Amino acid sequence: MNLNIRQATINDLDTVTSIEEICFPKAEAATRESFEARLKAFDESFLVAELDGKMVGFINGSVINEKVILDEFYSDTSFHNPNGDYQSIFGLDVLPEYRARGIAAELVKALIEVARKAGRKGLTLCCKEQKIPYYSKLGFVDIGKSESEHGHAVWYNMVLLFDKTN
Ligand SMILES: CC(C)(COP(=O)(O)OP(=O)(O)OC[C@H]1O[C@@H](n2cnc3c(N)ncnc32)[C@H](O)[C@@H]1OP(=O)(O)O)[C@@H](O)C(=O)NCCC(=O)NCCS
Repeated sequence: MNLNIRQATINDLDTVTSIEEICFPKAEAATRESFEARLKAFDESFLVAELDGKMVGFINGSVINEKVILDEFYSDTSFHNPNGDYQSIFGLDVLPEYRARGIAAELVKALIEVARKAGRKGLTLCCKEQKIPYYSKLGFVDIGKSESEHGHAVWYNMVLLFDKTN
């Protein structure tokens, strides 16, 4: 398998939108407008995975000052601060037919490296309870329930700190 992870561009807008519609229920899926704003605001932390040249997944998130993601951050890119402390993960998608072969893990690891090289304190994400073990394996620590009501679900905050004393 020839997996290539690269930074997204605005030309990827239609493809990421259609992958998101396959991967998430409507109440949780980010819209085309939202992806357009994100690609314009933080393409350096918007990565896509291509398998033999076909996009099969992607990861994206803004850079924020807070250790946890608040609901308004997803839709409002003005909270993105290129000099912020934490790389957030807003979304992680892999097409169903390409799952369980480590592609999402490679995307997470690539974004961890982007954050490390940029000198961030760490990364932060929100996930459902059943995904806690998955992100734990990638180095994230569960810091408790989020205040988020995104998609009317219950979410947990998980963080990965480069310097554990932070
Ligand atoms: C969550 C999601 C991104 C995972 O994508 P993926 O590429 O299948 O993820 P990985 O391959 O890294 O890991 C998935 C599982 O396959 C396992 N796996 C990884 N490589 C494997 C391999 N070579 N052989 C067998 N299993 C493997 C992992 O251990 C993991 O198992 P676990 O869930 O029991 O820990 C994907 O399922 C998805 O898009 N879901 C819908 C959207 C979503 O929920 N996103 C996350 C929001 S928090």
